Amino acid sequence: MALRSLFKGLTLFQKTALVTIAVTFLLIFIGGLVRATGAGLGCPDWPKCFGLWIPPTNAADLPEAYDPEQFNVFKTWMEYVNRLVGVLVGFLILLTFVFSFRYVRRIPSVFIGASAALLLVLYQGWLGGQVVQSGLQSGMITIHMVIAVLILNVLVWTWFHSVKDRIRYSMSARGRRNLILTLVVLLIVIIVQVIFGSQVREALEMVKAAYPGLERSLWMERVGSIDMIHRSFSWLVLVFAVLFQYLALRHGSGTPLPLLAGLTMAATLLQMLLGAALVYLGIPPAAQVFHLWIAAFMTGVPFFALLIALRSRPGPAYRA
Ligand code: HEM
Repeated sequence: MALRSLFKGLTLFQKTALVTIAVTFLLIFIGGLVRATGAGLGCPDWPKCFGLWIPPTNAADLPEAYDPEQFNVFKTWMEYVNRLVGVLVGFLILLTFVFSFRYVRRIPSVFIGASAALLLVLYQGWLGGQVVQSGLQSGMITIHMVIAVLILNVLVWTWFHSVKDRIRYSMSARGRRNLILTLVVLLIVIIVQVIFGSQVREALEMVKAAYPGLERSLWMERVGSIDMIHRSFSWLVLVFAVLFQYLALRHGSGTPLPLLAGLTMAATLLQMLLGAALVYLGIPPAAQVFHLWIAAFMTGVPFFALLIALRSRPGPAYRA
């Protein structure tokens, strides 16, 4: 398969960067789980949790300064695992950065990308503390989410630059140009949709705070016009995902683009289904988690496809 040639015989840097991408993606899932289960304040302090480096499993073991009423073992450990995986991502990014030294001269963009990921993850670690200290202010959660998605894409960009010499795809000049244009527009549309989505989430949190006794299934009714904008905009995402699929099949045979387009289409359709589940089934927490996770996936895949399209050469031959 066309994509396989990019993953064969990887160097230590390339393997580490790939693992880092996978664990960062997992962290976005866990972060969504923390939010959907309301476990964000499972640890009321930061970086420690109830004043300890390893939180207790029983309220009786809490330090005296803390109220046992405040303790919920599930939420505390959910938030604690989130922090542990966050630390793991931090170390993996540090390793990626250290291993990127060997590229400083040959491919400086690899070193630049790894340095940017390191700076972003340090900022994200600090921001995580601020999010907790702000009492989970919704605007802060949005920034935290945006930075997580940014880190993921910076890592994809960095890894891609380390394997770009393997890419020998070519396609017609017109097909290549149309694909690049479509992918740029698709990415912009997805980013705007992610921003609208986080506005829906912020509006939902405001409704939750303003009407404490209100049933969960009735929250959506009070969200206002941003919900309609977010729903309608997903059709635009779908239109460009279909166009990407069409162009990839037509001009990108022998390249990974048809596969990446198929993944983008499937993710878009699934995202719309999950969106409908959120609206019509009273915001099930599982749908919240996957809706956020797939949104992160939907930024990464077309971005990777764009990098491949930009790297391909205009020409008649199709080669993997
Ligand atoms: C097709 C592309 C779509 C993308 C990329 C997308 C993306 C997002 C994102 C990033 C969020 C914020 C999640 C968070 O911060 O945790 C969100 C929230 C939301 N979206 Fe979408 N969305 C899409 C389609 C839809 C559709 C079609 C609907 C409804 C029919 C919908 C309904 C919602 C709702 C109700 C929320 C708030 C959920 C929450 O608070 O967790 N979305 N969306």
